[in-house]
Amino acid sequence: PVLVVDFGAQYAQLIARRVREANVYSELVPHSTPVEKMLARKPAAIILSGGPSSVYADGAPQVDPALFDAGVPVFGICYGFQAMARALGGEVAHTGLREFGGTPLNIADEPGVLLRDLPADQSVWMSHGDSVSTAPPGFTVTAASPGARVAAFENTEKRLAGVQFHPEVAHTPYGQEILRRFLTGIAGVEPTWTNEEIIEEQVRAIREQVGDKQVICGLSGGVDSAVAAALVHKAVGDQLTCVFVDHGLLRAGEAEQVEKDYVAATGIKLKVVDAADRFLDALAGVTDPEQKRKIVGREFIRVFEQAAREVAAENDVEFLVQGTLYPDVVESGGGSGTANIKSHHNVGGLPEDLTFKLVEPLRTLFKDEVRAIGAALGLPDEIVWRHPFPGPGLSIRIIGEVTRDRLEVLRVADKIAREELTASGLDRRIWQFPVVLLADVRSVGVQGDGRTYGHPVVLRPVESDDAMTADWSRLPFDLLARISTRITNEVPEVNRVVLDVTSKPPGTIEWE
Ligand code: XMP
Repeated sequence: PVLVVDFGAQYAQLIARRVREANVYSELVPHSTPVEKMLARKPAAIILSGGPSSVYADGAPQVDPALFDAGVPVFGICYGFQAMARALGGEVAHTGLREFGGTPLNIADEPGVLLRDLPADQSVWMSHGDSVSTAPPGFTVTAASPGARVAAFENTEKRLAGVQFHPEVAHTPYGQEILRRFLTGIAGVEPTWTNEEIIEEQVRAIREQVGDKQVICGLSGGVDSAVAAALVHKAVGDQLTCVFVDHGLLRAGEAEQVEKDYVAATGIKLKVVDAADRFLDALAGVTDPEQKRKIVGREFIRVFEQAAREVAAENDVEFLVQGTLYPDVVESGGGSGTANIKSHHNVGGLPEDLTFKLVEPLRTLFKDEVRAIGAALGLPDEIVWRHPFPGPGLSIRIIGEVTRDRLEVLRVADKIAREELTASGLDRRIWQFPVVLLADVRSVGVQGDGRTYGHPVVLRPVESDDAMTADWSRLPFDLLARISTRITNEVPEVNRVVLDVTSKPPGTIEWE
């Protein structure tokens, strides 16, 4: 792999993703990892990420010079660039010239491998206080910026290079090209990390882990569990049984999509548990959002556990598939094995006497890679590009008590909004599009010749990268108008459609 050494900046994961976009497999390692341990992984190259603003700061992580003696190609970015300069005998100075944001880059007469033939003046994203004042001996300085005399350097013979700016962010237009040139031009890495390669490797690994034993997987309808199960199925076929719990809080067509489209595309053995009555009975009379979440979570575990026991007893199941992604692995400390099952409401918290070994075929992947693999495995677009949907489902999109009638009203309104969004071709721009029924609010309207006294629904389309922050989506007015007209025409209980124009923060994405 290419190892990305994480100096604690928010950019390290992004660097790893960009390396993979260049078709090279990469992994993150903490900066505290000893050099021998990094070298033991036989890295094709090592990338030092950004980090604290000064190499002179108290406790600032240093780079062990031994790293540069091993003959492994190294690329330093921002802080990693400065740490590299220092370790190799260059100088880093407090020049007092800080640069933050878009900055013009002046490419030197000798542009090196990284910058050759790129536009002479281009903008790069900077975020630094100190800067390299003298490059280490043997290095060519290939660019400068107004605040950094040395903004890029390289020593192609030793396969070492670095840049003061951030090539991994979109604000550096040629950043991906520069990163790719380091990988293939300077480090000599073969760009072979493709979907086909990933699938082949995972299939091999799953076969090796599972052998001839039986496997179970809980499907949520979301893309992660769907792709994880499809990979396992490709590897071990009918040794896999999937369980799908229909809690009665899904949107129109979702249960059918899993039951029909997904099974048709994969040929997976599926056990569907229709538990709608049980969930709706448990939710009767409940209006508090957290109470709803607790009830759905509790019932889910009970129902899934029961189903898992039945399947396990019939088949002697030894393994459980989890759709854990790479960011979860990194965030939970990168540990391995059964220790770090996240208490995910879907399949989490299985009791002690129901122990399975975990199969986690997506553990090394980012979300966009999971989608690409899903598509390569032939899963339907509706599953691959499905917007995230909360575990408690529509129960937290009905403000007030959840009843069968209200669910039906919301399902129709939600279906209309989704249909129109899809027809407008904007699905992939939108992160999520909750439609919320204000079931305890009534408003007066007029339809035909008569007065109506119905309920409002709220449209909450948002754009986001990770759901941590979000902005309300500026959907075209004529699209909003079509949705509004159709909902008020086709759903008699609803006589008003409103648009939520709150970002997150301060609002959350969901209304409850
Ligand atoms: P909020 O509303 O907090 O949502 O901005 C952030 C993201 O999390 C989803 N969400 C949930 N997902 N169980 C889930 O599995 C929940 O209880 C839950 N609440 C919110 C929400 O849809 C958004 O993607």
